[in-house]
Amino acid sequence: MVVVLDFGSQYTLLIARRLRELGVWCEILPGTTPWEKIKARKPQAVILSGGPASVRDPNAPQPDPGLFSSGIPILGICYGMQLLARSFGGQVSRSVQREYGKAVLIRHEGPLFQGLEGEIQVWMSHSDVVTEPPRGWQVVAATDTCPIAAISSPDGCLHGLQFHPEVVHTPQGKSILENFLYLAGVRRDWTPRHALESLISEVRARAQGGRVLLGVSGGVDSTTLALLLARAGVDHLAVFVDHGLLRLGEREEVEGALRPLGVNLHVVETKQRFLSALRGVVDPEEKRRIIGREFIRVFEEVARKLGPFKYLAQGTLYPDVIESAGGHGAANIKSHHNVGGLPKELGFELLEPFRYLFKDEVRRLARLLGLPEGLRLRHPFPGPGLAVRILGEVTEERLEILRRADAVFIQALKERGLYEEVWQAFCVLLPVRSVGVAGDERVYGHVVALRAVTSVDGMTADWAPLPHGFLDEVARRITRQVPEVGRVVYDITSKPPATIEWE
Ligand code: XMP
Repeated sequence: MVVVLDFGSQYTLLIARRLRELGVWCEILPGTTPWEKIKARKPQAVILSGGPASVRDPNAPQPDPGLFSSGIPILGICYGMQLLARSFGGQVSRSVQREYGKAVLIRHEGPLFQGLEGEIQVWMSHSDVVTEPPRGWQVVAATDTCPIAAISSPDGCLHGLQFHPEVVHTPQGKSILENFLYLAGVRRDWTPRHALESLISEVRARAQGGRVLLGVSGGVDSTTLALLLARAGVDHLAVFVDHGLLRLGEREEVEGALRPLGVNLHVVETKQRFLSALRGVVDPEEKRRIIGREFIRVFEEVARKLGPFKYLAQGTLYPDVIESAGGHGAANIKSHHNVGGLPKELGFELLEPFRYLFKDEVRRLARLLGLPEGLRLRHPFPGPGLAVRILGEVTEERLEILRRADAVFIQALKERGLYEEVWQAFCVLLPVRSVGVAGDERVYGHVVALRAVTSVDGMTADWAPLPHGFLDEVARRITRQVPEVGRVVYDITSKPPATIEWE
């Protein structure tokens, strides 16, 4: 395994992710972890992350000096490279100007760049630079503005990169990391199955002596977590709230998938409660508040009736962790609501085994745990459900229209092999009626908007250019199969300026 020492870079988890992609397990420890504690992990190499501090600041976080005299192979990235340079007698100074963005290596050599030819695009983000390498060290890469962009020690054991190989804007960064792992003699035999085994031991160890309560939404994160708890043999109760704002057949699909795999599933049927609470409400934020509040009440009731529970398990993913940490002072665009977002006052201890993982990694675990493909590859669905896809008042009749139209759209995407091409797709029911003609009759029908976007993480998104012929077919099928709908439109707005959901 490899230890990644974290000095506060926003990319530390990406380093871990790249290592996992390269078949290496790693553990992230705070940058100042004592050497004895690092050594106890028996790492084959150590990576020093970047970070916002300056090594010239006497209070800047430093690794334990024992690390540098241990002889273990080390790769320092950005701040990590500057730490290495300074610790071995080199010079670090403030750069003339802060460098941020794409740069090109005009020169590179040595085993770290083995197999890479020509100019290499890299991502820089720093305000300090190494101005003199330690004595005997080689400068192995340079850009136009940064003459010391990579360094290697005389014995070839220690390396520093001024740029970030872990981000996608350094397209060949993974090969550079791969070269480092090769030079360090790191074994690359980590697989998703190993990841699953260690997650199972982790939850087993954590959840000893207490029952676990888990909210299941039907999305891939919470359903995979339910399967993980079941596979680990942990005493759990997975609660699925049928609030009546679900898609067609959603509840049956979740029940059918989880029960046979040993999940102790408890379905709370509470349609009327949510519909009554939403009666007459048209304001989007108000809808979200009401649904969040009712959810918590339902959970409190379950905990009181079927408890006690010591732990609350949540399918929080790494991007959720970054977003919430980075959210200070950010404008509240939407009050996102999750089944996971239960208040701390409920007195549970949190269990979040996926907090270091990305969605595609959870999908891989889901496959190993036997989650059916329909659920595993399902598009994200917002916590407040169809309530935020019905503009205006939410009524049973309007829910029914939306559910049927949405099912037609999704089915058509799947038939054409387009479902997995887009990040998310759904129908929205608009609060207007429109005139049409059916046979020789005037009709005054509902209007449905189709929304389909491509995205990496939902933070930004582009509207998906679905083929016109396909859109035509979907409009025909919806108006035929859901006669209450008289008009279908396609949303061609990206995020920003729009958001993915309409409310
Ligand atoms: P927006 O509409 O903000 O959505 O562009 C970004 C992604 O988040 C989903 N979404 C939610 N997910 N609770 C959730 O768990 C919510 O309250 C919520 N609101 C939006 C949305 O479906 C999209 O994938």
